[in-house]
Amino acid sequence: MQTDLLQEARRQSEICNACRYCEGYCSVFPALHEERFFTDANLTQLANLCHNCRGCYYACQYTAPHEFDLNLPKALAEVRQDSWESFAWPAPLARWFQKSGVMIALATILGFAVHFLAFRALGSSGGEGFYAVLPHSAMVAIFLPAFLFPLLSIAVSLRRYWQATDGARVTVTNVVDAFSSAAKMKNLAGGHGDGCNFEDEDRFSHTRRLSHQAVMYGFLLCFASTSVGTLMHYLLDLPAPYSLWSLPKLLGIPGGILMVAGTVVLATLKLKADKNLGAPSAWGGEMAFVLLLFLVAFSGLLLYAFGNTAVMPAMLAIHLGSVLSFFLLTPYTKMAHGFYRLAALVRDAQRKAAG
Ligand code: HEM
Ligand code: SF4
Ligand code: SF4
Repeated sequence: MQTDLLQEARRQSEICNACRYCEGYCSVFPALHEERFFTDANLTQLANLCHNCRGCYYACQYTAPHEFDLNLPKALAEVRQDSWESFAWPAPLARWFQKSGVMIALATILGFAVHFLAFRALGSSGGEGFYAVLPHSAMVAIFLPAFLFPLLSIAVSLRRYWQATDGARVTVTNVVDAFSSAAKMKNLAGGHGDGCNFEDEDRFSHTRRLSHQAVMYGFLLCFASTSVGTLMHYLLDLPAPYSLWSLPKLLGIPGGILMVAGTVVLATLKLKADKNLGAPSAWGGEMAFVLLLFLVAFSGLLLYAFGNTAVMPAMLAIHLGSVLSFFLLTPYTKMAHGFYRLAALVRDAQRKAAG
């Protein structure tokens, strides 16, 4: 990991430790106040615990032009970004994708191209509905490795994170604690529960937290919809497409709508917010990730709407192409944040239990 970024985070954490004004703002400060010297392990954990709500920056009396030049959200965002790059496996892929929106866009276009080519080479093999365009066996051959590889890659990265932050043996209570915090996205509610200042100094709002919840729960509903569809296909011999009142659609349509609405709001907030309170070099890659999520959801909804028309093959290629890119890029884009942040919450639950 880059020592200059760690050194800057260390300098600022030491000032915060002496000041203690932001004591009740979020989970970062209680963890920070327990340390006297900040090791790389401490700083990596603090960085992944920070939710970038920016409350501490706007409350701070030591920001520029003060000579201390405090900007804790930025210092932690840069260490966080750097930690994801150094834990990712295989590392060169991470360096390409994590900061670059252009690389994400190229990978997405490649995903479309793979599907268009597969349609032409393998299509019209006598199946029905979507499978007339691309046989089921071809879909499985493309998506199974694309789903399993990211899981393996993320598992390697999380192990590295755990070792780098001196994590102890995980208990069920730690995990329950972490999931309940993530489920409510507690740390994005602002220190006093009246919202965070992400997009504007003077405005406390829950917009970012609620739109994140919309995207996160929307994504989980879509994932559940695909899983139910897979089970119906293999266990009940009921292949897609499904009717409007079937379980895959009852889960997938609200999920897609939540994701579309949530990503639009998150992208708007991101445009309004000050880039310099995050990791400015990662902004393009983060925005590309939000847009890729939007594309996955929006193309899925269009496929529901136009599944029985002549544009269906094109819609299917766009949807499957964006889903393929999304899965393959998961370990190397902002999507990895969900895993690291859960790990940081588990680690924080261990700290609280020990204290
Ligand atoms: C598993 C637990 C998760 C946690 C604890 C979590 C936490 C966070 C936090 C703290 C942020 C704001 C700070 C930052 O920009 O890094 C964020 C941003 C975001 N998260 Fe999550 N997240 C989780 C899962 C998910 C999932 C499953 C999705 C969707 C698939 C998702 C989509 C997003 C998006 C789109 C952003 C905005 C990115 C941006 O503004 O740059 N998150 N998440
Ligand atoms: S961010 Fe500023 S006000 Fe808050 S604890 Fe640190 S130095 Fe003090
Ligand atoms: S930006 Fe928000 S979450 Fe991060 S340290 Fe400051 S108050 Fe805590």
